Amino acid sequence: MKVLLATQKPFSASAVKLIREVVEKAGYEFCTLEKYPAQEDLVKGVADADALIVRSDKVTAEVLENARNLKIVVRAGAGFDNVDLEAATAHGVVVMNTPGQNSNAVAELAIGMMIFMARTQFTPATGSEIQGKKLGIQAFGNVGRLVGAKAKALGMDIMAIDPFLPTEKIVEGGALPAKDLDELYSSCDYVSIHIPATPQTIRSIGYDLITKMPKGATLVNTARKEVIDEEGLMKALTEREDLKYVTDVAPDNYAVLREKFSSRVFATPKKMGAQTGEANVNAGIAAAAQIVDFFVNGNTRFQVNK
Ligand code: 3PG
Repeated sequence: MKVLLATQKPFSASAVKLIREVVEKAGYEFCTLEKYPAQEDLVKGVADADALIVRSDKVTAEVLENARNLKIVVRAGAGFDNVDLEAATAHGVVVMNTPGQNSNAVAELAIGMMIFMARTQFTPATGSEIQGKKLGIQAFGNVGRLVGAKAKALGMDIMAIDPFLPTEKIVEGGALPAKDLDELYSSCDYVSIHIPATPQTIRSIGYDLITKMPKGATLVNTARKEVIDEEGLMKALTEREDLKYVTDVAPDNYAVLREKFSSRVFATPKKMGAQTGEANVNAGIAAAAQIVDFFVNGNTRFQVNK
Protein backbone atom coordinates (compact mmCIF):
# COMPACT_ATOMS: atom_id res chain seq x y z
CA MET A 1 0.00 0.00 0.00
CA LYS A 2 1.57 3.27 -1.10
CA VAL A 3 0.79 6.66 0.47
CA LEU A 4 1.93 9.67 -1.56
CA LEU A 5 2.35 13.10 0.01
CA ALA A 6 2.08 15.52 -2.93
CA THR A 7 2.65 19.11 -1.89
CA GLN A 8 3.62 21.84 -4.30
CA LYS A 9 4.00 24.05 -1.20
CA PRO A 10 5.80 21.58 1.07
CA PHE A 11 5.20 20.94 4.74
CA SER A 12 8.12 21.51 7.11
CA ALA A 13 10.72 18.71 7.19
CA SER A 14 9.76 17.83 10.76
CA ALA A 15 6.07 17.50 9.80
CA VAL A 16 7.00 15.23 6.87
CA LYS A 17 9.08 13.07 9.23
CA LEU A 18 6.11 12.68 11.58
CA ILE A 19 3.72 11.91 8.71
CA ARG A 20 6.16 9.27 7.45
CA GLU A 21 6.28 7.71 10.92
CA VAL A 22 2.48 7.35 11.09
CA VAL A 23 2.34 5.80 7.61
CA GLU A 24 5.30 3.44 8.06
CA LYS A 25 4.18 2.36 11.53
CA ALA A 26 1.00 1.10 9.88
CA GLY A 27 3.16 -0.93 7.48
CA TYR A 28 2.57 1.20 4.36
CA GLU A 29 5.09 2.63 1.92
CA PHE A 30 5.54 6.42 2.07
CA CYS A 31 6.63 8.64 -0.84
CA THR A 32 6.80 12.39 -1.36
CA LEU A 33 6.37 14.63 -4.37
CA GLU A 34 7.25 18.13 -3.22
CA LYS A 35 7.67 21.49 -4.99
CA TYR A 36 6.77 19.80 -8.28
CA PRO A 37 7.07 22.28 -11.14
CA ALA A 38 4.09 21.24 -13.29
CA GLN A 39 0.64 19.71 -12.89
CA GLU A 40 1.71 16.84 -15.14
CA ASP A 41 4.18 15.77 -12.42
CA LEU A 42 1.23 15.17 -10.11
CA VAL A 43 -0.67 13.37 -12.88
CA LYS A 44 2.32 11.01 -13.34
CA GLY A 45 3.17 10.82 -9.64
CA VAL A 46 -0.16 9.33 -8.57
CA ALA A 47 0.00 6.39 -11.00
CA ASP A 48 0.65 3.73 -8.33
CA ALA A 49 -0.56 5.51 -5.19
CA ASP A 50 -3.26 3.92 -3.02
CA ALA A 51 -3.67 7.02 -0.88
CA LEU A 52 -2.85 10.65 -1.50
CA ILE A 53 -2.25 13.53 0.91
CA VAL A 54 -2.36 17.03 -0.59
CA ARG A 55 -2.62 20.67 0.42
CA SER A 56 -4.03 23.10 -2.18
CA ASP A 57 -2.70 20.84 -4.94
CA LYS A 58 -5.13 20.40 -7.80
CA VAL A 59 -6.65 16.93 -7.72
CA THR A 60 -8.32 17.16 -11.11
CA ALA A 61 -10.29 14.59 -13.12
CA GLU A 62 -7.05 13.91 -15.04
CA VAL A 63 -5.15 13.18 -11.82
CA LEU A 64 -7.91 10.82 -10.67
CA GLU A 65 -8.12 9.16 -14.07
CA ASN A 66 -4.42 8.35 -13.89
CA ALA A 67 -4.50 7.09 -10.30
CA ARG A 68 -5.60 3.53 -11.00
CA ASN A 69 -5.02 2.24 -7.44
CA LEU A 70 -6.24 5.30 -5.58
CA LYS A 71 -8.79 4.73 -2.82
CA ILE A 72 -8.51 7.87 -0.70
CA VAL A 73 -7.42 11.51 -1.00
CA VAL A 74 -6.98 13.54 2.15
CA ARG A 75 -6.70 17.29 1.80
CA ALA A 76 -4.51 18.17 4.79
CA GLY A 77 -6.43 21.33 5.60
CA ALA A 78 -9.94 22.71 5.51
CA GLY A 79 -10.94 23.84 2.01
CA PHE A 80 -11.41 21.08 -0.55
CA ASP A 81 -12.28 23.26 -3.56
CA ASN A 82 -9.03 21.97 -5.12
CA VAL A 83 -10.39 18.44 -5.42
CA ASP A 84 -12.78 17.41 -8.20
CA LEU A 85 -15.28 15.67 -5.94
CA GLU A 86 -17.51 14.47 -8.75
CA ALA A 87 -14.61 12.79 -10.55
CA ALA A 88 -13.41 11.27 -7.26
CA THR A 89 -16.85 9.82 -6.55
CA ALA A 90 -17.06 8.50 -10.09
CA HIS A 91 -13.76 6.68 -9.55
CA GLY A 92 -14.88 5.35 -6.15
CA VAL A 93 -12.28 7.48 -4.34
CA VAL A 94 -13.07 8.74 -0.85
CA VAL A 95 -12.13 12.40 -0.26
CA MET A 96 -11.57 13.81 3.24
CA ASN A 97 -10.33 17.03 4.77
CA THR A 98 -8.84 17.59 8.23
CA PRO A 99 -11.13 20.26 9.68
CA GLY A 100 -9.78 22.43 12.48
CA GLN A 101 -6.20 21.23 12.25
CA ASN A 102 -4.72 24.40 10.75
CA SER A 103 -7.38 26.84 11.98
CA ASN A 104 -5.32 28.53 14.66
CA ALA A 105 -2.60 29.46 12.19
CA VAL A 106 -5.15 31.07 9.85
CA ALA A 107 -6.90 32.85 12.73
CA GLU A 108 -3.62 34.31 14.00
CA LEU A 109 -2.83 35.57 10.51
CA ALA A 110 -6.25 37.25 10.21
CA ILE A 111 -5.59 39.12 13.47
CA GLY A 112 -2.06 40.00 12.32
CA MET A 113 -3.41 41.34 9.03
CA MET A 114 -5.90 43.57 10.83
CA ILE A 115 -3.15 45.05 12.96
CA PHE A 116 -0.86 45.39 9.92
CA MET A 117 -3.47 47.51 8.14
CA ALA A 118 -4.46 49.43 11.28
CA ARG A 119 -0.76 50.32 11.72
CA THR A 120 -0.41 51.56 8.11
CA GLN A 121 1.42 48.46 6.83
CA PHE A 122 4.15 49.09 9.39
CA THR A 123 5.08 52.49 7.98
CA PRO A 124 5.65 55.43 10.34
CA ALA A 125 2.31 57.07 9.37
CA THR A 126 -0.22 57.49 12.19
CA GLY A 127 -2.34 54.39 12.49
CA SER A 128 -5.21 53.29 14.68
CA GLU A 129 -5.86 50.64 17.32
CA ILE A 130 -8.17 47.68 16.96
CA GLN A 131 -9.29 47.80 20.60
CA GLY A 132 -12.83 49.16 20.80
CA LYS A 133 -13.50 48.54 17.09
CA LYS A 134 -16.18 46.20 15.81
CA LEU A 135 -15.23 43.02 13.95
CA GLY A 136 -17.69 41.19 11.72
CA ILE A 137 -17.00 37.52 11.12
CA GLN A 138 -18.47 36.04 7.98
CA ALA A 139 -18.88 32.32 8.79
CA PHE A 140 -18.41 31.20 12.35
CA GLY A 141 -16.72 27.86 11.81
CA ASN A 142 -13.38 26.61 13.14
CA VAL A 143 -11.39 29.63 11.96
CA GLY A 144 -14.12 32.25 12.46
CA ARG A 145 -14.69 31.27 16.09
CA LEU A 146 -10.96 31.43 16.86
CA VAL A 147 -10.66 34.85 15.21
CA GLY A 148 -13.60 36.01 17.33
CA ALA A 149 -12.08 34.75 20.59
CA LYS A 150 -8.69 36.31 19.88
CA ALA A 151 -10.19 39.61 18.75
CA LYS A 152 -12.38 39.72 21.84
CA ALA A 153 -9.30 39.28 24.02
CA LEU A 154 -7.84 42.31 22.21
CA GLY A 155 -10.86 44.39 23.16
CA MET A 156 -12.89 44.23 19.96
CA ASP A 157 -16.67 43.84 19.77
CA ILE A 158 -17.63 40.78 17.75
CA MET A 159 -20.54 40.28 15.40
CA ALA A 160 -20.92 37.11 13.32
CA ILE A 161 -23.09 35.41 10.76
CA ASP A 162 -23.22 31.81 9.63
CA PRO A 163 -25.99 30.31 7.49
CA PHE A 164 -25.33 26.86 8.97
CA LEU A 165 -25.41 27.81 12.65
CA PRO A 166 -28.37 28.65 14.89
CA THR A 167 -28.05 32.08 16.51
CA GLU A 168 -27.62 30.49 19.99
CA LYS A 169 -24.34 28.96 18.82
CA ILE A 170 -23.11 32.36 17.66
CA VAL A 171 -24.03 33.87 21.02
CA GLU A 172 -22.33 30.94 22.82
CA GLY A 173 -19.21 31.70 20.76
CA GLY A 174 -19.15 35.21 22.20
CA ALA A 175 -20.53 37.11 19.20
CA LEU A 176 -23.60 39.19 18.48
CA PRO A 177 -25.52 37.49 15.65
CA ALA A 178 -25.98 39.68 12.55
CA LYS A 179 -29.42 39.33 11.02
CA ASP A 180 -27.98 39.43 7.49
CA LEU A 181 -24.85 40.29 5.55
CA ASP A 182 -26.01 43.88 5.07
CA GLU A 183 -26.05 44.34 8.81
CA LEU A 184 -22.64 42.69 9.24
CA TYR A 185 -20.98 44.82 6.56
CA SER A 186 -22.72 48.09 7.45
CA SER A 187 -21.94 47.95 11.15
CA CYS A 188 -18.39 46.59 11.37
CA ASP A 189 -15.05 48.41 11.14
CA TYR A 190 -13.42 45.14 10.09
CA VAL A 191 -15.01 42.18 8.33
CA SER A 192 -13.05 38.92 8.31
CA ILE A 193 -14.10 36.39 5.68
CA HIS A 194 -14.14 32.67 6.50
CA ILE A 195 -16.47 31.17 3.90
CA PRO A 196 -15.45 28.33 1.60
CA ALA A 197 -15.36 28.75 -2.18
CA THR A 198 -18.51 27.08 -3.49
CA PRO A 199 -20.80 27.82 -6.47
CA GLN A 200 -22.95 29.83 -4.02
CA THR A 201 -20.12 31.91 -2.54
CA ILE A 202 -17.86 32.52 -5.54
CA ARG A 203 -17.81 36.28 -6.39
CA SER A 204 -20.49 36.81 -3.71
CA ILE A 205 -18.65 39.70 -2.00
CA GLY A 206 -18.59 42.72 -4.28
CA TYR A 207 -19.40 46.39 -4.68
CA ASP A 208 -22.78 46.34 -2.91
CA LEU A 209 -21.53 44.71 0.28
CA ILE A 210 -18.12 46.38 0.39
CA THR A 211 -19.53 49.89 0.00
CA LYS A 212 -21.90 49.24 2.92
CA MET A 213 -18.88 49.25 5.25
CA PRO A 214 -18.49 52.28 7.52
CA LYS A 215 -15.88 54.99 6.99
CA GLY A 216 -12.30 53.71 7.28
CA ALA A 217 -13.33 50.04 7.33
CA THR A 218 -11.06 47.13 6.35
CA LEU A 219 -12.03 43.89 4.63
CA VAL A 220 -9.82 40.94 5.61
CA ASN A 221 -9.72 37.83 3.42
CA THR A 222 -7.91 34.71 4.61
CA ALA A 223 -10.41 32.48 2.80
CA ARG A 224 -10.27 32.21 -1.00
CA LYS A 225 -9.71 34.88 -3.66
CA GLU A 226 -12.64 33.46 -5.64
CA VAL A 227 -15.23 34.66 -3.12
CA ILE A 228 -14.45 38.28 -4.05
CA ASP A 229 -15.93 39.96 -7.10
CA GLU A 230 -12.72 41.69 -8.14
CA GLU A 231 -14.36 44.26 -10.42
CA GLY A 232 -16.72 45.22 -7.60
CA LEU A 233 -13.79 45.49 -5.21
CA MET A 234 -11.92 47.75 -7.63
CA LYS A 235 -14.97 49.97 -8.07
CA ALA A 236 -15.58 50.16 -4.32
CA LEU A 237 -11.96 51.10 -3.57
CA THR A 238 -12.01 53.70 -6.36
CA GLU A 239 -15.16 55.40 -5.10
CA ARG A 240 -14.42 55.06 -1.40
CA GLU A 241 -10.94 56.37 -0.63
CA ASP A 242 -11.31 55.35 3.01
CA LEU A 243 -11.76 51.58 2.51
CA LYS A 244 -8.98 48.99 2.81
CA TYR A 245 -8.53 45.40 1.65
CA VAL A 246 -6.00 42.92 3.02
CA THR A 247 -5.79 39.38 1.77
CA ASP A 248 -3.83 36.16 2.07
CA VAL A 249 -4.86 35.24 -1.43
CA ALA A 250 -3.78 37.80 -4.02
CA PRO A 251 -6.57 38.74 -6.42
CA ASP A 252 -5.92 38.36 -10.15
CA ASN A 253 -5.98 42.15 -10.51
CA TYR A 254 -3.57 42.69 -7.59
CA ALA A 255 -0.86 44.46 -9.61
CA VAL A 256 -3.35 47.13 -10.69
CA LEU A 257 -4.97 47.37 -7.25
CA ARG A 258 -1.62 47.72 -5.54
CA GLU A 259 -0.42 50.34 -8.01
CA LYS A 260 -3.55 52.42 -7.54
CA PHE A 261 -4.15 51.93 -3.83
CA SER A 262 -0.84 50.84 -2.29
CA SER A 263 -1.61 52.30 1.13
CA ARG A 264 -5.02 50.61 1.25
CA VAL A 265 -4.47 47.19 -0.35
CA PHE A 266 -2.07 44.43 0.59
CA ALA A 267 -1.79 40.75 -0.40
CA THR A 268 0.72 38.17 0.82
CA PRO A 269 2.99 36.93 -1.98
CA LYS A 270 1.89 33.31 -1.42
CA LYS A 271 -0.98 31.84 0.59
CA MET A 272 0.53 31.58 4.07
CA GLY A 273 -2.41 31.31 6.49
CA ALA A 274 -1.76 27.66 7.31
CA GLN A 275 2.00 27.89 6.87
CA THR A 276 3.24 27.35 10.41
CA GLY A 277 5.22 24.42 11.77
CA GLU A 278 2.38 23.65 14.17
CA ALA A 279 -0.31 23.65 11.47
CA ASN A 280 1.89 21.51 9.18
CA VAL A 281 2.30 18.94 11.94
CA ASN A 282 -1.35 18.98 13.02
CA ALA A 283 -2.88 18.77 9.54
CA GLY A 284 -0.24 16.36 8.19
CA ILE A 285 -0.47 13.89 11.05
CA ALA A 286 -4.28 14.06 11.03
CA ALA A 287 -4.28 13.28 7.29
CA ALA A 288 -1.95 10.29 7.72
CA ALA A 289 -3.93 9.00 10.73
CA GLN A 290 -7.21 9.33 8.82
CA ILE A 291 -5.78 7.27 5.96
CA VAL A 292 -4.64 4.51 8.31
CA ASP A 293 -7.99 4.57 10.13
CA PHE A 294 -9.79 4.34 6.79
CA PHE A 295 -7.77 1.34 5.59
CA VAL A 296 -7.79 -0.47 8.94
CA ASN A 297 -11.28 0.35 10.27
CA GLY A 298 -13.16 1.78 7.31
CA ASN A 299 -13.60 5.08 9.19
CA THR A 300 -15.05 7.72 6.84
CA ARG A 301 -15.94 10.37 9.44
CA PHE A 302 -14.31 13.23 7.56
CA GLN A 303 -15.42 12.20 4.10
CA VAL A 304 -16.62 15.20 2.06
CA ASN A 305 -17.88 13.41 -1.07
CA LYS A 306 -20.57 11.25 0.55
C1 3PG B 1 -7.04 25.38 3.98
O1 3PG B 1 -8.03 25.36 3.24
O2 3PG B 1 -6.83 24.51 4.85
C2 3PG B 1 -6.08 26.54 3.91
O3 3PG B 1 -6.43 27.41 2.90
C3 3PG B 1 -4.63 26.11 3.80
O4 3PG B 1 -4.22 25.78 2.52
P1 3PG B 1 -2.73 25.29 2.24
O5 3PG B 1 -2.56 23.96 2.87
O6 3PG B 1 -2.62 25.23 0.76
O7 3PG B 1 -1.79 26.30 2.83
